[in-house]
Amino acid sequence: MTAPRWWSRAVFYQLYPRSFADSDGDGVGDLDGVTAHLDYLRSLGVDALWLNPVMVSPMVDHGYDVADPRDVDPLFGGMAALDRLIAAARAVDIKVTMDLVPNHTSSAHPWFQAALAAGPGSPERARYHFRDGRGPNGDLPPNNWTSVFGGPAWTRVSAADGRPGQWYLHLFDAAQPDLNWDNPEIAADLERTLRFWLDRGVAGFRIDVAHGMAKPADLPDMADRAAESDTAMLTSESNDPRFNNDGVHAIHRDIRTVLDDYPDAATVGEVWVFDNADFAKYLRPDELHLGFNFRLVRADFTAHAVREAIENSLAAAELADSPPTWTLSNHDVEREVSRYGDGAQGLSRARAMALVMLALPGAVFVYNGEELGLPNVDLPDDVLQDPVWERSGHTERGRDGCRVPLPWSGDTAPYGFSAAADTWLPMPAGWGPLTVDAQCTDPESTLSLFRRAIELRRGRTVLGRSVRWLPTAPDLLAFQCEDGLVCLLNAGSTTVDLPAGQVVLASGPLPGGRMPPATAAWLTYD
Ligand code: GLC
Repeated sequence: MTAPRWWSRAVFYQLYPRSFADSDGDGVGDLDGVTAHLDYLRSLGVDALWLNPVMVSPMVDHGYDVADPRDVDPLFGGMAALDRLIAAARAVDIKVTMDLVPNHTSSAHPWFQAALAAGPGSPERARYHFRDGRGPNGDLPPNNWTSVFGGPAWTRVSAADGRPGQWYLHLFDAAQPDLNWDNPEIAADLERTLRFWLDRGVAGFRIDVAHGMAKPADLPDMADRAAESDTAMLTSESNDPRFNNDGVHAIHRDIRTVLDDYPDAATVGEVWVFDNADFAKYLRPDELHLGFNFRLVRADFTAHAVREAIENSLAAAELADSPPTWTLSNHDVEREVSRYGDGAQGLSRARAMALVMLALPGAVFVYNGEELGLPNVDLPDDVLQDPVWERSGHTERGRDGCRVPLPWSGDTAPYGFSAAADTWLPMPAGWGPLTVDAQCTDPESTLSLFRRAIELRRGRTVLGRSVRWLPTAPDLLAFQCEDGLVCLLNAGSTTVDLPAGQVVLASGPLPGGRMPPATAAWLTYD
């Protein structure tokens, strides 16, 4: 039997570069800020970083609108800063993975600019999805697709004579035109991009919208949908022609062919597909190495919902014969402390769920700030930056609230994040007790809990692929991992007795050896 590959049990730290640490005092985090805090990441014990996009971008969607896929934006310190980070991270045995955005480019990408200039029917326009409009004057969009960010998925451009011209497709913002993956130039260019970064020492990619890219040839209308909520990203219906088209698998196979030339690198796909058989297709041996499974993100804090999410994720992974993956939050969803009710209750639940997640077999993704127990932030209208806010006609506030910069030290904003008082999103009052400085010496802090849990996880030789469910009262959850570790969660409202066994870690106090609500514990048996 071959040894498991590093990614199959790694703890990935998702790092939102704008919000981690600012080294040059412009109020926006950057890559030298990351390098300066590698000791922090090392003491947290993570195996790898996933950097949200750092490529050259006008930053309409904060880097998910890429204007040059083979260069680092000066805002983040340029290519030299990435090289410094990769080298310094390697020295402390942390791998660096990057975000890759193959579904669309920025409208500032030279290809899109050329497409605008070249006009209908040109090879330049064939790199994107340009179509004539419907209706007598072509005034109506070519189909009824909606953008994930709100509004129509089509924008009309001007013809050379200044009159209204063709429409182009964008499943996200109008500044993110979708690429036409039927055009072989697109795959050839992506191969260049993959090799470019892998040759620089990048250990793999998180692939954005990995269930997108391929479009049905005739771009058929989608079924009418009820108004989408701000968690629209989390929905995916099997009959939605915008996503999960069969052609996407050939694209993943091409990507895998390149990755196979770099055997220590891995891909993890953002796959918002909830049918397990469909999801598993992305993880066939010649496609992605890992696929994000978002069931824990969607689970309420009840024993039933959490168990169902875990069972389902394990079943999907088993079907795919691929390591399971776990994530409680990311840069697109409300932070779990707030999802679970905010305040002391939200925090206790989030800490308990962290122990559940870190007990499980497979790869784990920790979103920066999760280890500090940060809540979502209610931001005033005038600072909102997520394109969702504008595109939804100010009905959806968007994702800025989970992207506020990390607090490092001190009692007032910007809490050591930046030398600038004005950070790209304002940091709230009252975060003094949540700073890294305040938490790192407190053994009861959320940061200490994550450090200890990750340390114990690293020491576990066998994580395996499965868990054994143990019988419990209805509001409890208990599973035993392949190495014997038992994780117990009290998702109910009364304090319960602990079973026999040695408690090696608990997410909160266990007064009198009993377990209060919203607490989890790890137990071992000699
Ligand atoms: C993914 C990213 C999200 C981004 C979108 C468009 O869902 O996670 O942040 O806005 O793709 O690229």
